[in-house]
Amino acid sequence: MIENIKGMKRTHYLDELNASNIGEEVVLMGWVRRRRDHGGVIFIDLRDIKGLTQVVFNPEHNPETHAKGHQLRNEYVIAVRGIVRPRPDESLNKNLKTGEIEIFVEELRILNPSKPLPFMIDEDDNIEISENLRLKYRYLDLRKESMQKKMIMRSNVARIMRDYLHSSGFLEIETPFLTKSTPEGARDYLVPSRVNPGSFYALPQSPQLFKQLLMVSGYDRYFQIVKCFRDEDLRADRQPEFTQIDMELSFVEPEEIMEIMDDMMSRIFKETLDIDITLPIKRLHYDEAMAKYGLDAPDLRIPLELVEVSDIFASSGFKVFSSVVKNGGMIKTLKLEGAAAKLSRKYIDDLTDFVRIYGAKGLAWIKINKDSWQSPIVKFFSDDEKAKLSERVGLKEGDIIFFGAADTNTVNEYMGRLRAHIGKKLELFDESEYNFVWVTDFPLMSYNADEKRYDSVHHPFTAPCDEDIEKLGSEVEQVYSKSYDLVLNGSEIGGGSIRIHSKQLQDKIFELLNIGEEEAREKFGFLLDALEYGAPPHGGIALGFDRLVMLLSGADSIRDVIAFPKTQKAACVMTSAPDKVDTKQLRELAIKLNVIE
Ligand code: AMO
Ligand code: AMP
Repeated sequence: MIENIKGMKRTHYLDELNASNIGEEVVLMGWVRRRRDHGGVIFIDLRDIKGLTQVVFNPEHNPETHAKGHQLRNEYVIAVRGIVRPRPDESLNKNLKTGEIEIFVEELRILNPSKPLPFMIDEDDNIEISENLRLKYRYLDLRKESMQKKMIMRSNVARIMRDYLHSSGFLEIETPFLTKSTPEGARDYLVPSRVNPGSFYALPQSPQLFKQLLMVSGYDRYFQIVKCFRDEDLRADRQPEFTQIDMELSFVEPEEIMEIMDDMMSRIFKETLDIDITLPIKRLHYDEAMAKYGLDAPDLRIPLELVEVSDIFASSGFKVFSSVVKNGGMIKTLKLEGAAAKLSRKYIDDLTDFVRIYGAKGLAWIKINKDSWQSPIVKFFSDDEKAKLSERVGLKEGDIIFFGAADTNTVNEYMGRLRAHIGKKLELFDESEYNFVWVTDFPLMSYNADEKRYDSVHHPFTAPCDEDIEKLGSEVEQVYSKSYDLVLNGSEIGGGSIRIHSKQLQDKIFELLNIGEEEAREKFGFLLDALEYGAPPHGGIALGFDRLVMLLSGADSIRDVIAFPKTQKAACVMTSAPDKVDTKQLRELAIKLNVIE
């Protein structure tokens, strides 16, 4: 029989009672974590969001409630009224906040029983439960202490950011979800309009244009903790709907925005993990990031750098290398000090397979042995090349060096990933460390050879660096932008830029992106108009809130820090979304399906 809590008011959460409460009558409510029967005495660990308290049913103390206590099973929800008693010395528990006391029950109410569970809630987190099962019963998964800790961390981080931004003069303003597409590089989620048959809203990939318009309206500093929707290929750090801490500021240059973020990050890390991060966060020019690490979101905890050697092998007898350089490509090396003896042939073959995933044709290597260089390729090198290589890279006995040779993008991609992969595999750094870096001044555009036009590297509203504006005519790829990404341990946790606030410049950018005047008008007419009514210089940033919380809480996937996430296939297995809808609904929306079953 299910009982109610009428007339009973909870007096304490389950982490609150200690020796100072001994003798008090209390009312507690929560879930049965575990029941133990000890020679007639029943012990219950009662759990709530705050903690655990031991509850005792003693036949000598109260035979009636003791008899009722036998009905209790895991995850039953109960209310108890009882007296706080000291625990006997032998059962004191120093690891538990309430470990000095226990409750002798006078009254038990069973508020709701529970069916046997699909998985244990209080198990050791190392026991693997399939993620599908966890997601199907997400409400039980979220009842786990480890998940509750992550959700509490998420809530705390949101509060710290909100407090910080409010106290720094930011206004919290909402922007619409039913809107028009903003190009952030992914596909849109569309919502059909019933009252405008055949027309669709797009869910925002970010509030980019609205926040710029708020600057035109004079709001000076805006922020929003906001959902963004992107239909893209999902990975461990990507969800179709995710949360940004989105900001925009007027009358600022990049440095001011980075300083504010530095300050906010240092507060978050201090208040959540009690970690002092060194300020200012290091700034790294995009070109330097690519040169040394091959990736635009490098993990600087890894003590390895790439070194370019294209010039040394430009006319080498080793044709694989010289032809790559002749064709405008690049040769980069990665040296591992003293690792030659550690890396077997099999290990090197595995690394070669690894880089092939990212487009490598091979992975040449040299081991610097005592008397000779051991390598499949060194026989093709001249003495001069060997001497120059040795000097450039600083080779010593016992080192091993890897070579990547291909077009610049490919080499950077796979050597960058090789650096990260080896760094992790060989445990070359402390994984518990946090390392921040700003990567700044990305190129404004990159050439899209397939479509014979330029693509924005960030988004089309990003401002070019002032000194590069004249290059927009002929040397587009030499133009850098006033952009900055915040990278934490090799993960991009935020990105932003100063925006274009001149209509003429915005027109020019659309032209380079091959967005014709008419198309620009149709898609962004409202922005172009607004730029002509006194738009101030402005810029902003958006932090990936889920990624940040993932890193703060040591989770492996952003799914673990989102209460109700989607699977790799963008589905919710608990609610079975997305789902079919009935024909009546479709008819109202003037939609006819053409699905191949
Ligand atoms: P951007 O597209 O770089 O910038 O997004 C900002 C940050 O959001 C996070 N992020 C994601 N997190 C989880 N799942 C996803 N699918 C996902 N996509 C992005 C990343 C990223 O750094 N409007 C611009 C910001 C600006 O210019 O102010 C924008 O959205 O951590
Ligand atoms: P091959 O001449 O193809 O037998 O290659 C000789 C060595 O060079 C092998 O160790 C290959 O892995 C390596 N190699 C081949 N192509 C490349 C390349 N593009 N970049 C780096 N190493 C390569």
